[in-house]
Amino acid sequence: MAEIRVNLGERSYSIKAGEGVLGNCGPLVKKIARGGGVAIVTNRKVNGLFGETCRRSLEKAGFRTETVILPDGERFKNLAQVSKIYDALVKKGFDRSDTIFALGGGVVGDIAGFAAATYMRGIDCIQAPTTLLAQVDSSVGGKTGVDYPGGKNLIGAFHQPRAVLADLSALKTLSEREFRCGMAEVIKYGIIKSPSFFGFLEKSVKEILRRKPVFLEEIVRKSCRIKADVVSEDEREAGLRAILNYGHTFGHGIETALDFKRLKHGEAVSIGMVMAAELSRRLGLCGEKSVTRIKNLLGAYGLPVVKPRSVSIDDVIEGMAHDKKKMAGSPRFVLINKIGSCIIKGDLPYNVERFV
Ligand code: NAD
Ligand code: GLY
Repeated sequence: MAEIRVNLGERSYSIKAGEGVLGNCGPLVKKIARGGGVAIVTNRKVNGLFGETCRRSLEKAGFRTETVILPDGERFKNLAQVSKIYDALVKKGFDRSDTIFALGGGVVGDIAGFAAATYMRGIDCIQAPTTLLAQVDSSVGGKTGVDYPGGKNLIGAFHQPRAVLADLSALKTLSEREFRCGMAEVIKYGIIKSPSFFGFLEKSVKEILRRKPVFLEEIVRKSCRIKADVVSEDEREAGLRAILNYGHTFGHGIETALDFKRLKHGEAVSIGMVMAAELSRRLGLCGEKSVTRIKNLLGAYGLPVVKPRSVSIDDVIEGMAHDKKKMAGSPRFVLINKIGSCIIKGDLPYNVERFV
């Protein structure tokens, strides 16, 4: 099992990634939890796959458990589901010493994390991510929240988990498409921070797509290490943390243009990462070779690398205008100098993205 530490003073915690972590979650939670109650927040699909395993282990370790089942899907990432969690906690008399155990992908993790951030002004949350995207990204770093009319993730709070328990065997049941979407974020870490990791991803396409356990452990370990280091330096995204949004500004523009239908987030981010690389090349920041390697690697993992024909660059720019990752009105772009090295640029000429 790999253990990665997120260093944030008194809010520091460990990410444990390995096979069978969920089956052993009781003793792991026991070391951390302050009280005797654990509310497992999950959805129907994930509950069917791993709910019983977690309940059994937690109860064997002496916890009183309550399971809250949310509907599955981004369209349910809203305040009504947060209320549903509050209702269950109140009904069962959960207090500030108790723990929320977020079992599922990024949707469950974000909703359950937000409920934990706000119930009784904040209770402990343990993230148990079951998608690749959640294991390498959303469960780490403390961003929690829900969508709201007017924007995705518009309502939220920073609330670091007390631990992240990532069971690599959970990835076996993940659909091919969801797995590939998680790979977009994994590749992002190589592009922004590690040429050697990028090289490893180039060499290991077959093994990773076959989900060989040692390769899964390596991609989750390395991705979490990079994210943990960035978050440890800039927890609240005052600067550096924005590099984790590489490709996301363009990706978000595409998603908005498509009204969040047709393409999944990871697919839009994949196209967005190519656009950001292309913009970097046009601005003379990086060479053609870097752009080609990025395009080839994303393509090798079955991810799209060009925007759909039905979406014009004007549609993307219009969609980007709503991007909340803007600062004082001017868009910030994460661009690359070369693979493994990126910069944040906020002083680009107006409409520069038109040149992509
Ligand atoms: P998701 O949570 O919708 O999960 C995708 C699908 O996989 C769902 O149908 C889910 O039920 C299913 N699933 C989960 N685990 C499974 C398993 N082991 N086997 C089979 N099916 C399984 O989507 P996601 O991609 O995990 O997360 C996307 C969300 O994460 C978005 O809402 C996004 O805003 C958020 N996010 C948050 C952060 C953050 O820092 N907090 C970062 C990135 C993304
Ligand atoms: N996924 C971007 C961040 O956590 O900051």
